[in-house]
Amino acid sequence: MKSGDIEQLKREALAEATAASSPEDMERVRIKYLSRKGLLSGIMKELKTLAPDERASAGRIANELKHELSVIIESGSTKRESGSGAAVAGHDLTLPGRWPALGTMHPISMVINEVVRILGKIGFTVAEGPDIETKYRNFEALNTPDHHPSLDARDTFWLESGELLRTQTSPVQIRVMENCRPPVRIITPGRCYRRDTTDATHSANFHQIEGLYVDTSVSLADLKGTLSYLAQELMGPNVGVRFRPHFFPFTEPSVECDFSCHVCNGRGCAVCKQSGWIEIAGAGMVDPRVFRKVGYDSSMVSGYAFGMGVERIAMIKYGIRDIRMLYENDLRFLREFA
Ligand code: DAH
Repeated sequence: MKSGDIEQLKREALAEATAASSPEDMERVRIKYLSRKGLLSGIMKELKTLAPDERASAGRIANELKHELSVIIESGSTKRESGSGAAVAGHDLTLPGRWPALGTMHPISMVINEVVRILGKIGFTVAEGPDIETKYRNFEALNTPDHHPSLDARDTFWLESGELLRTQTSPVQIRVMENCRPPVRIITPGRCYRRDTTDATHSANFHQIEGLYVDTSVSLADLKGTLSYLAQELMGPNVGVRFRPHFFPFTEPSVECDFSCHVCNGRGCAVCKQSGWIEIAGAGMVDPRVFRKVGYDSSMVSGYAFGMGVERIAMIKYGIRDIRMLYENDLRFLREFA
């Protein structure tokens, strides 16, 4: 045996391994050359019989044969395990990537975004105010006298500074009018706080969206038109809208606005307490005394305002029975809105 013979054997072995098209073929090549009784082991034994200089070069070629053949066999089995030919140095590029965990939009944010989008189409822009308000803007400027029950410490979270956690988004109306001349057309989504005992329909913190439109000849009909448009865009074309007379200190006349119950289509069910209607917003024509507080001339301008509960809308739109679900952050619930 000469080193030329081993060279020849190496060429054949590598050719056979490269040509192997199935795991079985490859295993056959491995047994033929690399197993204990395979050709390579025979060669290794014969090496001892060679002259020293011949032995060195034959030994080198035999080792190359062993190494290169093992690499081909090994990479063949990695390819098979990964199901395709994309194995690179121990990394399988065909495995699916790892998805980062994605959050979902909270239903309260979804409703706010939706209302902002809908009213944005008819010219309303978003204004915001702070959660901590002055008594003046939350009550006085809104024509709410000191003896009004809503100022009571059982209803309002008062701070030691004499300020309070706003009980409504209406004070943002005051902030905007203090700073802008009419016409004004804004909506203000935001968090509000009241000392309510938490139950299925009440939460001590909740969200409102306030709307305010002031111009030279705004009428109650404009208010009706806007809230009817909002109702249809939010709940679909078949929703009914009704206005009931009401009282708010900062509007005259004042109304409450109901949407027909989307669960029973107005026939009456447990959700609407058999009335067929669900109360959505308080609204009315801005009281001239409020205009006077912010320096508007009420003989020149008129305006409407409304304020609606975001949780209420989310609950009827998505069929949520208990307001607490919106605050518990149970991932099983939140993932429903993915
Ligand atoms: N702020 C009122 C509330 O929290 C809702 C409201 C009623 C807002 C009438 C208004 C309005 O702007 O005009 O119950």
